[in-house]
Amino acid sequence: MVILLFGPPGCGKGTQSPHIANLLNIPAISTGEMLRAEVEAGSPLGKAAAGILASGQLVSDDIVSQMLVRRLSEPDCGDGFLLDGYPRTVPQAEFLDAYLRKHGFAPATVLFLTAPDYVLIERIGSRRQCPRCGAIYNILFKPPARPGHCDRDGTALVKRKDDAAEAVKQRLRAYQTQTQLVLEHYRNGDFHTVRADRPPAEVLRDIMVVLEPRMAAVARRRTG
Ligand code: AP5
Repeated sequence: MVILLFGPPGCGKGTQSPHIANLLNIPAISTGEMLRAEVEAGSPLGKAAAGILASGQLVSDDIVSQMLVRRLSEPDCGDGFLLDGYPRTVPQAEFLDAYLRKHGFAPATVLFLTAPDYVLIERIGSRRQCPRCGAIYNILFKPPARPGHCDRDGTALVKRKDDAAEAVKQRLRAYQTQTQLVLEHYRNGDFHTVRADRPPAEVLRDIMVVLEPRMAAVARRRTG
């Protein structure tokens, strides 16, 4: 099963994706996390992408799609995967559709998480993240047990560079002008809108209402 977790910055994609991936036993792949890891590692790709990420613009389709294909060719993606933050442009969506056809996957199930801008801006402004394990916190809505430190490994939490106010404005603009067009690309397929301006457990419950019948169908095909 291939799942696309789609929605504006701060809607909760990174919060929900590990839970969904665990329940479905498929890997969760975030192109944003992959790009941040490249920047952190100081790789040629990371050096090329660092300024673009910090400004809140989109990295070029070719760079992101090639990076993603390398990840999708790993063995854990053979039975399906969840994508968080890809595709973000219509050319990326067309590229992914072709990839899925070529590798025998059914068309993706798209989960569109929605929340008003004021909710997104408040969440992003109060987000903190563990630079070691990637765990996501929020000083208002999901504070760590020990202020400023990761519950899992004790590492000091950081604010993402692109969570600065100017970059957030640009990210919301990029979403509105480039990424929203991807909605039209998928709207007539297996497409589901989930209201994400509610507690995380409620959002996950509604996501699973969509996914459980699909999981059962996949299991029936495997056993039958
Ligand atoms: P990416 O990392 O994908 O960032 P994004 O899409 O802007 O999304 P965010 O990570 O900001 O938010 P999220 O929806 O994951 O929310 P989260 O769960 O953290 O991309 C970053 C950059 O990489 C892009 O700007 C671009 O430059 C580049 N890039 C990535 N993919 C690309 C692509 N395909 N093409 C080109 N460029 C690409 O939640 C936010 C906060 O809210 C957290 O603190 C969380 O604890 C809290 N929260 C979450 N849910 C709830 C809830 N229900 N109630 C209360 N608080 C909540």
